[in-house]
Amino acid sequence: MSDRFKPVHGFSVVALVALASSAPVLAAIDLRDYDNDLMRDLDKTIKYFEPDITAKNADAAKEDAQILLDGFKYTENYFSKKNAEDAVEISRKGVKVISDVIARVDGGDFDAAAAAAREAPQLCKSCHDLYKPRLAR
Ligand code: HEC
Repeated sequence: MSDRFKPVHGFSVVALVALASSAPVLAAIDLRDYDNDLMRDLDKTIKYFEPDITAKNADAAKEDAQILLDGFKYTENYFSKKNAEDAVEISRKGVKVISDVIARVDGGDFDAAAAAAREAPQLCKSCHDLYKPRLAR
């Protein structure tokens, strides 16, 4: 009877969920050589990024974009040296999103640029969820 197997199956799912939520999910990476000054620059910059775009301030938006682009290139390079492929992938998406924004700003399409810019903070967060220590959630 297949009914017999249901409780077993149910238990294993519960066990897996319990394991996933209680085990430390942070990948063990030595971050001593990580550039936190750069991260703080990114943090400041990303706050102005979308507002600069919606204000149609092309020069400021492109300055912001350049800092963010350098940031994602830094993380791409940094995490590829640590063989953290998921972080590299997130960084590449960041490079792509920011490049998109620059192209839209250059084309004068500030609405599309702002829409693309709104994707960036989620990428910061995705990487932090995986690799930033002492995260509250
Ligand atoms: C691919 C991974 C990755 C990406 C992308 C990334 N970060 Fe980080 N960030 C980290 C890690 C890892 C730390 C923790 C470093 C440590 O503990 O030494 C960190 C730390 C930080 C900090 C804390 C710095 C401090 O003073 O301790 C800030 C602020 C920050 N990131 C902002 C950002 C912003 C804003 C973005 C997006 C524009 C971003 N990060 C993108 C991995 C990433």
